[in-house]
Amino acid sequence: YLQQEEILEQECIALISSLPKEKGWVASHLYKYQGFWNPPRHIQGIMTCQEHFEARDSDVFLVTTPKSGTTWLKAVMFTLINRMQYPINQEHPLLSKNPHDLVPFLEIKLYADNQIPDLSSFKSPRLFATHIPIFSLPKFVRDSSCKLVYLCRNPKDIFVSLWQFTNKLRLQEMGSNSLGETFDMFCRGVNIYGPFWDHVLEYWKESMEKPHKVFFLKYENMKERPADNLRCIAEFLGCPFSNEEEESGMVEQILKLCSFDTLSNLEINRTGRLASGEENKAFFRRGEVGDWKNHLPTEMAQKLDQITEQKFSGTGLKL
Ligand code: A3P
Repeated sequence: YLQQEEILEQECIALISSLPKEKGWVASHLYKYQGFWNPPRHIQGIMTCQEHFEARDSDVFLVTTPKSGTTWLKAVMFTLINRMQYPINQEHPLLSKNPHDLVPFLEIKLYADNQIPDLSSFKSPRLFATHIPIFSLPKFVRDSSCKLVYLCRNPKDIFVSLWQFTNKLRLQEMGSNSLGETFDMFCRGVNIYGPFWDHVLEYWKESMEKPHKVFFLKYENMKERPADNLRCIAEFLGCPFSNEEEESGMVEQILKLCSFDTLSNLEINRTGRLASGEENKAFFRRGEVGDWKNHLPTEMAQKLDQITEQKFSGTGLKL
């Protein structure tokens, strides 16, 4: 999140200077690009993906709103898709690497900082992650037969998680952002990849229209019925569990390996850092549904509920 303005291409600088601007939650300002707020580095990453990324029909994308459980689903989908290549044993890559190092973000990692990555070593089915809103996805992703698993979460828990996470990313001398100030910004949609509600709604609609293309998943549902959801994801991706796998307890093994307790207690996640500098442990906080109750005053909770009700009214979507 630091030094972002220093590594932008001229084309991006020109575009960004024409966009609406607000104070950011961490270091950089946020700008409204194609309807969503982001720091310049993310916007450049999105632009580079839009221009250069070519999807394969067999590609799989995990698309999420930030703090909806991306780290968890990265682990689950990586283990699911690669279960032949990486059986669950002491050598499993998740035991020595953070999920973000195994499943890269398109715009924040692979195509960040004006890089055009060589993806030739990625074996099909390739698994990528992204937070890019649906209408900003590279054209190839929308036009090809690739599949998208979309994960979202209740906005009260998202807000609390994001507020705490971004405060951890701020340099000590910057101090923390207050709950009240960030709450107002979140309600106005001014947060990375915000407005939250628009992000979710656009993918929800797409999942209704194209259920073979977009699988819509809620964090709360995954917590409540992890095995059923994992089986559904496997079916959706065309790699259902065989009878032998079911009998051997493969579903439960994947879920155990990827559980909050297992992942957060691994040495790599307690002490390691991502290449981009964030501490791995910052991605594991409580991992519970409803932790907002420990942080949000009633009026704030009610306000978020009201906005959610209003935004989702008539859509059939509830969070
Ligand atoms: P909390 O801050 O509410 O604890 P993301 O990965 O999208 O950044 O989301 C982070 C949120 O997912 C954090 O929520 C984090 O604790 C939670 N999380 C991380 N790993 C998890 C896991 N294996 N199972 C459940 N939740 C997990």
